[in-house]
Amino acid sequence: MCGIIGYLGEREAIPILIEGLKRLEYRGYDSAGIAVFDHDRIEVKRCMGKVSGLENLFKTGRNSASVGIGHTRWATHGRPSEENAHPHTYEGVAVVHNGIIENYLTLKNELKSRGHHFSSETDTEIISHLIAENLQAGLKPLEALRKALAKVEGSYALAVLIESHPDILLAARNQSPLILGLGNGEMFVASDSPAILPYTRQVIFLEDGDLVQITQSQIKIETQSGASPSRPIHTISWDDSQAEKGGYKHFMLKEIFEQPQAVADTLRGRISVEQGDVFLEGLEDRRENFLSAKRIYLVACGTSYHAGLVGRYYFERFCLLPSEAELASEFRHRNPIIGPETLMILISQSGETADTLKALREGKAKGCPTLAICNVLGSSISRMADFTLYTHAGPEIGVASTKAFSTQIIALYLTALALARDRSLVSPAGTKDKIQELLKIPQLIKKCLGLDPEIQMIARKFSGFQNFLYLGRGINYPLALEGALKLKEISYIHAEGYPAGEMKHGPIALIDREMPVLALATHGEGRDKIRSNIEEARARCGRVIALVNEGDEEIAERVEETIAVPRTQEELQPILNIIPLQLLAYHIAVIRGTNIDQPRNLAKSVTVE
Ligand code: AGP
Repeated sequence: MCGIIGYLGEREAIPILIEGLKRLEYRGYDSAGIAVFDHDRIEVKRCMGKVSGLENLFKTGRNSASVGIGHTRWATHGRPSEENAHPHTYEGVAVVHNGIIENYLTLKNELKSRGHHFSSETDTEIISHLIAENLQAGLKPLEALRKALAKVEGSYALAVLIESHPDILLAARNQSPLILGLGNGEMFVASDSPAILPYTRQVIFLEDGDLVQITQSQIKIETQSGASPSRPIHTISWDDSQAEKGGYKHFMLKEIFEQPQAVADTLRGRISVEQGDVFLEGLEDRRENFLSAKRIYLVACGTSYHAGLVGRYYFERFCLLPSEAELASEFRHRNPIIGPETLMILISQSGETADTLKALREGKAKGCPTLAICNVLGSSISRMADFTLYTHAGPEIGVASTKAFSTQIIALYLTALALARDRSLVSPAGTKDKIQELLKIPQLIKKCLGLDPEIQMIARKFSGFQNFLYLGRGINYPLALEGALKLKEISYIHAEGYPAGEMKHGPIALIDREMPVLALATHGEGRDKIRSNIEEARARCGRVIALVNEGDEEIAERVEETIAVPRTQEELQPILNIIPLQLLAYHIAVIRGTNIDQPRNLAKSVTVE
C-alpha cells in the first residue's frame, strides 16, 4: 500500500525519483520522501501529503546526485506525519519500505536495550538500525542486509542507501511487490512498472526472499541461504501512454472507456468460433487437478469479490459444480472445510491483496488446486497459484476498479467454458454460440459508453442525495453491490446494494423522496419480480432509476429515469450493465468535487490485512 522507487545511474536522480513516485501515488499518498547522496552524505527530504510537495523541498540549491531512493506512503504503523514519512535513516543507512514488519516491537525493544534511539513510530525504522549495526560489525552491505532481514518477520519491499557505499543500491522483497528495471548504464527499483516505463521496459520481477545488490553495471540477486537464483527478464508491453491519463480528466474515466479494448485483449487468442473452443494458455497441464474438483470457491475482496459472485453462476450453470463466492477476509478465519476436491479461484486485479493472498496460502496448505484471475504479471498471487489466467486490462491506476471487473467476468466465463468442456458438459456446437456472443461484447460495451451524455444528465439530477439504494435480482444482485461500491467509494454518498427480494424484509422502510433507488431490470429470471419492487418503491415516493434493455417500454414509462442498454446473453449482461453504473458514479463524484482517482482513506492495493 506504499510506493517505493530507487535509481542508480548517470542522470540526476531527483527528477526521476519524483516523477516515479507520482506514478505510484495510487498506492498511497499521505506522505512522501526522498534520500539522495549530496557529495558524500545522504540528504533526506520528506513531506506530508502528496509527492508534489517534495518538488518545493528540492527547489533550493541544485543536487546533481545520481543515486537515490524515494517513497510515497499509506500509513499502517504510525500516523501520517513528516517524522513517520520514509526514508528512515540511522547512522548512514537510509531505507524505504512497503509492507509490515510483524515483529518490529520485539526487535525495537532489543535494539533499545543495545542503546538505540528511535525518531519515528514506524516499523520500518528498525530496518535501518539493524543494517547499520551489521555494517558497524564489519559486514559487507549485502551481508548486512541479509543478516538484518533474517530477524525480520513480515512483508517488505525495500530499497536501501548506505553512506559508506555510494556506488551501490540494496533491495529486498518478501510478500510485497518489487521489480528491477534494467536501463542503459542505469538501474531502477520500483513497486510497479508505471514508475519506470519512461526509462525502460526490461524488468525483473523479484521473488519472495530475494536480496539484491545493484551497481551501475551489475545486479546481484541472492536468497537468504546465499543461493543465486536466476530471474528472467520480462519486457513490459504497456505503452507509457497506458499509464498516463491519455487525455481523459481522470484515470478512472480513461479506464472506463478502455473496457472494449480490455475485454477484446482478454479474449484475444483464447477463443475460436470455427472450432467452438476455448484455449487458456497453460491450463492444459493443470487439467487433471482441476477436473478432480467437486466444488468451487471463488475468493476475493471488494470489486473482485463482486466479479466472483457473477462467476459463481457460470460454474454452476456450465460446470454443474456447487460454487460459492467468499470474501477473502472472512473465508480464511472460519477454518473452511476444503481440500484437494475444492478448486479455489482467487480473483485479484493487483495480485497483492493481503487477505486474498492469505486465503490462497490457506487453500494451498490444505491441498486445494488454485487458479488465479489476475491483472498484474508477476504479482504475488499470480506466482503462488497453480495456474493464473491473466486479464489483459493494462494498468488500472484509478483506485476504483472498473476495467478489472469487466475483464475478470470475461476470464471467469472463459474458465467456466473450458472446465465445462473438459467435463464433457458442452459440445463445440454448444460453445460456438457463446463464443459468437462473446465476440460481440466489446462493440456492445462501446454502445453502452455512448450513453455517457444521458448518464451525465441523470448524475446532475441525483448528485445532491446523501443516500442511494441499488437493487438487483439473480445475476444482477452482484451488479447492485458493485454499482453501490463505485458510488460510495468515489462520491462518499452512502450507497447500498441489496437483493431486491429482501426489500420487504426491512430496507423498504428506508424508501421516501430522499432515497433514490436504482433498479437493475434487464432481461432474465428476475426482471418481472423486480418490476413489483419498482412499484413498491414508487408507492412510497421513492425516486426510481431503472436500468433496462433497449425497447423495454413497460418499465420505462413507470419510473423517473431510464437507462436502456443493449441485450446480450443473460450470463454476459452484467458486463454491459456495469458500464452505466460506473459512469453514473463517476459523474456524480465529479459534480461533488471529490478526489476521484485517489479517494480519501483508500489505496489501490490493500497489502495489509
Ligand atoms: C474497488 O473499486 C476497490 N478498489 C477495492 O474494493 C478492490 O476491488 C479490492 O481492494 C480488491 O483489490 P484486488 O482486486 O487488487 O485484489
